[in-house]
Amino acid sequence: MAEPNWVDKTIWTQDNLPVMRGMNSESVDLIYLDPPFNSNADYAAPIGSKAAGAAFKDTWSLQDIDIAWLDLIETKHREVARVIAAAMSKSNMSYLIYMSVRMLEMKRILKPTGSVYLHCDPTMNHSLKLLMDAIFGANNFRNDIIWQRRYGRAKGSQHLPKTWGTHNDNLLFYAGGTSVRVRPFRQISLDEAKQRFPKTDERGRLYTTIAHFSGRAMGDRPNLCYTWRGFTNPHPSGWRVSKERLEQEYQDGKVIIKADGRLERRRYFDPEVGVRTGNLWTDIAPPSGDELTDYPTQKPLALLDRIIRASSNEGDMVLDPFCGCATSMVAADRLARRWVGIDISPKAVELVVERVKADQGMFKKIVPRTDIPLRTDLGPIAIYNSLANKRHLYGEQEGHCNGCREHFPMKILEVDHIIAENQGGTHHLQNLQLLCANCNRIKGDRGQEYLIARLEQRSTKHFWKK
Ligand SMILES: C[S@@+](CC[C@H](N)C(=O)[O-])C[C@H]1O[C@@H](n2cnc3c(N)ncnc32)[C@H](O)[C@@H]1O
Ligand SMILES: [Zn+2]
Repeated sequence: MAEPNWVDKTIWTQDNLPVMRGMNSESVDLIYLDPPFNSNADYAAPIGSKAAGAAFKDTWSLQDIDIAWLDLIETKHREVARVIAAAMSKSNMSYLIYMSVRMLEMKRILKPTGSVYLHCDPTMNHSLKLLMDAIFGANNFRNDIIWQRRYGRAKGSQHLPKTWGTHNDNLLFYAGGTSVRVRPFRQISLDEAKQRFPKTDERGRLYTTIAHFSGRAMGDRPNLCYTWRGFTNPHPSGWRVSKERLEQEYQDGKVIIKADGRLERRRYFDPEVGVRTGNLWTDIAPPSGDELTDYPTQKPLALLDRIIRASSNEGDMVLDPFCGCATSMVAADRLARRWVGIDISPKAVELVVERVKADQGMFKKIVPRTDIPLRTDLGPIAIYNSLANKRHLYGEQEGHCNGCREHFPMKILEVDHIIAENQGGTHHLQNLQLLCANCNRIKGDRGQEYLIARLEQRSTKHFWKK
């Protein structure tokens, strides 16, 4: 894992794609992203390089830049390309391309011990889930958290005669690797604690009783049938837990043999830890009062507080690549995490400076940046057609030309930029491929889609040429 190549409390006013491309691999512990939804809404800020500087209306359509990115995805990430191919409209396809190039960078910069929360809503939730599965791995999917964001009027209330009211956003939570742990707890008031833990023990601690035997509905579970300290399970579904665990709970004072000879198994309330939360979050209200900025899509601090507490430790690096009015930065700062935010809108940097300073005092050093960072974890970038690059790509493509798919000896194949340099393509291996001389001539300095279209004229159509 690499060190971040930026300092704590950095805020970029930039498109997050080139910034993330310049960030070191495996250098971030937690990513929260709240991207624009593909929702026909107006956003104050521009999206992507084309619309930069203009007020942006959320109209997604395929542009040259999409096709160039799709080339890269098609060539290097086939499973992602399959998800994009399944999009139901050009607008959705364009949105998914926009998201996938960014998610691929997020995957690269996230540590295997890190976590990512994608904030979205039912508009594109289903497609984004497939994209996240393809990029972060379906086996790293942990939860679809439902946040009830509105108590009163539903979203899109003008549609109410035709639909049920929509009150939720979704947070898709993925772990960077299988060992990642989460602490899904929340603090509760004493009143709520007393309701949920209605009994008091000899030492005044709150607890509630829980079952020690399993119900019959659980079916037969022979490995949980045993006799412990003279108690035997009454039916074949057995005890709730193994004999060892039961004995441990007894030693810990959580299983009691009462004076009348009956068993009591207890769950205690721990005020330090709070109570376990599930994936339905109904207790976080939208921002209001002092917390409100004039940022249209502002999220509540309590939401970010919960995510950051659950999935990071003090000193960890938290990234929000669509940070808006920097809610996650303020929450991270309060919880003594390091942080970096990116937003294309200059309004964001103004707000974060204002908010974090108001929160913590003037002495905290915020670093505003607009440049593109240079990765420090790569060493010098090899000349693009170096022998080392050629060898690597030859192995990756198993000796096939990436156009016609014919097999060739290495010396016949030529190194080609997938996204042309004049369109912002880099010399990184990620943007390079090997083509045979013939395919390279056909392609010239056009995009990969031109080559593929030419090669496939006689066979099936390429999926985006609908
Ligand atoms: C839904 S808002 C995020 C709101 C944020 N969570 C908050 O609490 O304020 C989406 C943000 O993404 C920003 N954005 C859109 N495209 C971007 C891009 N390509 N790079 C960086 N930021 C972008 C917009 O300026 C907007 O602030
Ligand atoms: Zn070829």
